[in-house]
Amino acid sequence: MLPIDLRGKRAFIAGVADDAGFGFAIAKAFAEAGATVCVGTWPPALGIFEKLLERGKLGESMRLADGSSMAFEKIYPLDAAFDTMAEAPEEVRENKRYKERGDFSIAGLTAALEADFGAPCLDVVVHSLANGPEVKLPLLATSRGGYLTAVSVSAYSNVSLIRHLIPLMRPGGSFQSLTYMASERAIPGYGGGMSSAKAALESDTRTLAMEVGRQHGFRINTISAGPLASRAASAIGKIDRMIDYCRKNSPIDRDLSAMDVGHVAAFLASPLAAAITATTMYVDNGYHSMGMGIETPVLDATD
Ligand SMILES: NC(=O)c1ccc[n+]([C@@H]2O[C@H](COP(=O)([O-])OP(=O)(O)OC[C@H]3O[C@@H](n4cnc5c(N)ncnc54)[C@H](O)[C@@H]3O)[C@@H](O)[C@H]2O)c1
Repeated sequence: MLPIDLRGKRAFIAGVADDAGFGFAIAKAFAEAGATVCVGTWPPALGIFEKLLERGKLGESMRLADGSSMAFEKIYPLDAAFDTMAEAPEEVRENKRYKERGDFSIAGLTAALEADFGAPCLDVVVHSLANGPEVKLPLLATSRGGYLTAVSVSAYSNVSLIRHLIPLMRPGGSFQSLTYMASERAIPGYGGGMSSAKAALESDTRTLAMEVGRQHGFRINTISAGPLASRAASAIGKIDRMIDYCRKNSPIDRDLSAMDVGHVAAFLASPLAAAITATTMYVDNGYHSMGMGIETPVLDATD
């Protein structure tokens, strides 16, 4: 047997606020493989997430294969739009969802992890977050502010997270993020600069893998996932039609589950993937390879 064994390793996953998205599935896969898992949650979503956990509403989703329940070692407030608290505008710092949370910046997260567990304390870091305030607008109609926010929150945050957390990484450590093929193919409905942000994220993966690999020996990869009806994707709209279209037009005719991505993330985090870095890994039932639909398209360029 060739196991994925993450026992004794600690993961930090940025972008978990419910049980529907990729971040949660990755946390679960890591826990199944024996890792301890900390997560970072966007302050506006943190209160609801804490209540869901406290009230046991995620009970079934939290159950591991051996019957035990997954437990997050710690949940940190994190707004990845800010490297330091000095960058957060007063209206954000004073907002009721942020005010009581302490330092929710990437620097604050780094300091809190070090205070809680010492340095080094991490083996794998996953960036599983994105936000584009104008995602519903075509790129052509996107404002400069909307575009820059999409790139800042969805791509630069990964650069910053990696830079800040490198000093906390143990030997053999690795970083991952989640991307989408709108980075390299035109996808109707994925606007607001989000396609640009994903292109930046994938390019940065290659450059950072070189810089960080040579300097520190850590690996950096990104997983290009097929469509999933997560909370973020459902907010964009059209996700059900995208899922249906991809299923009908992919080499493998099956639904993509969040756990498909979780399992690949666990493999990438493990020593089995020691030679894999700087890679965009497709987990999409092969959809990225298609040049023409197998069945009649349901989306067109005006959607
Ligand atoms: N769902 C899909 O179809 C799909 C496909 C390919 C890639 N992805 C990517 O997967 C990743 C996870 O998304 P998901 O679809 O699983 O949805 P999700 O809703 O589970 O995760 C997105 C998370 O980002 C968090 N977030 C938003 N702004 C933030 C900020 N400023 N600071 C910190 N956290 C912030 C949200 O609170 C949420 O928890 C994203 O990078 C997304 O682009 C999603």
